[in-house]
Amino acid sequence: MQATAIAQPNIALIKYWGKRDIDRNLPAVGSISITLSELHTEVSVDLSGDQPVDVLIVNGEENQQMLPRLSACLDRVLGPTRPRANIQSNCNFPIAAGLASSASAFAATTLAAAGAANLSLSTQELARLAGASSGSAARSFYGGFAELRNTGDDIALTSLGDEESWPLQVVVAITESGPKATGSTEAMEISRKSSPFYDSWVSQQEQDLVLARDAIAGQDFTQLASIAEHNCLKMHSVMWASRPPMVFWNAATVQCLETLRRLQGEGCRVFFTIDAGPQVKAVCLPDDADSVRQALTATPGVLNVMMSRLGSAARLVQER
Ligand code: DP6
Repeated sequence: MQATAIAQPNIALIKYWGKRDIDRNLPAVGSISITLSELHTEVSVDLSGDQPVDVLIVNGEENQQMLPRLSACLDRVLGPTRPRANIQSNCNFPIAAGLASSASAFAATTLAAAGAANLSLSTQELARLAGASSGSAARSFYGGFAELRNTGDDIALTSLGDEESWPLQVVVAITESGPKATGSTEAMEISRKSSPFYDSWVSQQEQDLVLARDAIAGQDFTQLASIAEHNCLKMHSVMWASRPPMVFWNAATVQCLETLRRLQGEGCRVFFTIDAGPQVKAVCLPDDADSVRQALTATPGVLNVMMSRLGSAARLVQER
């Protein structure tokens, strides 16, 4: 009746932005991500109490704000007549700040809920359930490189290689520690309804996926860098042109991009990606990780720098 799962966040190199079915939370586009190793969320779900309502404790404190989405996640896995749960979540990085905390939280909650109820679900089924709670969470069921494909009326997940297959490094520059003003779910809908670039974003995604898939298969860093930066900037262009405009960047975000452009000019094998928040994720080859870390640490406005290798899939750590 109780289980604990750990999931790591994943960072999209080809982004999910926009939904084609809000009720089922189906993405309008496919996406490709890398799962990180050093950041994680650990979630325990305990169904053994006889309490009347779900209780959520995040990093030691009761949290009412995130509870409705986590309760809905448990309903999806266990059905609406499930026992009420005690959910304990511990996260070792900033929450709701554009570091994919929802991906790791919903992947771990889905897995822990299934474990607590002794359900035997395939990875694909677990990923679909987690994706219904938060689209990006589906990808955290795969280590290394994961692709989420849009199959028309559903999603399908594929591994494009585990974390050992191409040991890239990620250097995350934290430029702001507070939560973001607009959550991804709401921001995507604003983009879909108002951005003049939204339709071309959706229609061009397939060609970006092909290029990224090929780059990963051939370990072609130059091609992966080029398509990932292009895809990221296209997503942010969609956001910037939305009404109201959604600019998640701050001055330090731009400073980090300048630092990375300079490093690239010096021959450093690095590229950037940015999600719905001001943090900059620099993906690089292991030999270049130290230069990237030092340069980002010295960039004005950077508060903190975190290093990560590619990580493994969401997993159960304990069941009772
Ligand atoms: C910019 O998965 O958080 O990080 O499905 O509404 O919960 P919901 O959205 P979410 O959006 C992630 C957006 C992104 C890009 C990505 O991870 O692919």
